[in-house]
Amino acid sequence: MNVTHAEFVVSNTRVENCPKSSLPEYAFIGRSNVGKSSLINLLCQRKRLAKTSSRPGKTQLINHFLINKNWHLVDLPGYGYARASKTHKKTFQKYIVDYFSKRKELVSAFILIDIRHEAQPIDLDFIKWLGENLIPFAIVFTKSDKIKEGEVEKKVNLYLEILKKQWEELPPYFVTSSEKGWGRESLLNYIESINQGLSTSQSTLF
Ligand code: GTP
Ligand code: MG
Repeated sequence: MNVTHAEFVVSNTRVENCPKSSLPEYAFIGRSNVGKSSLINLLCQRKRLAKTSSRPGKTQLINHFLINKNWHLVDLPGYGYARASKTHKKTFQKYIVDYFSKRKELVSAFILIDIRHEAQPIDLDFIKWLGENLIPFAIVFTKSDKIKEGEVEKKVNLYLEILKKQWEELPPYFVTSSEKGWGRESLLNYIESINQGLSTSQSTLF
């Protein structure tokens, strides 16, 4: 898929104030600093569409971006932000939970995982919570430029092994680097294939 148009729509803290729309929506979630905003900029090929920072905690709101005027990408604040209060570190912020439980337009979440690190309980807990709440998701490994090429497969397999303990079926997954542009095509094609499936199923209803 080509991204021919990308625009910021609105930021807010309440799912009730998210755009009234029936467009399919995809949300990026993960620990602070994992690269959510950078990945949105990579997909849209715009350096500063979503605000990024080397310091964790940059994104603090639910940010909607309209892509090609027919679907939404959502940039969310990170969870597990080290300097956040204890309650925030242990639980997921209420508006994140609200967003995922109430946003009907959400088609799939993308859980971003820094490929360099061992599996973190907070990510596994969030993945489990999504599963329990029947929210579809895919995994996106980020910052793959930061490890040696030969390490990538090893790291991915290690993570998948851990997921296999919880899940009968593994979720779709992608390996990306916003720095190098890796994984852009596969992610966009994945989203496009879901969007196409949705429009066909809608047209067969009528
Ligand atoms: P919060 O909004 O704070 O939750 O962070 P975020 O997940 O949106 O991360 P963000 O995109 O702001 O990136 C955090 C830092 O990691 C920035 O300094 C980015 O330049 C860097 N970064 C993001 N993706 C990559 C990547 O693929 N490779 C490398 N080398 N650096 C990256
Ligand atoms: Mg961010």
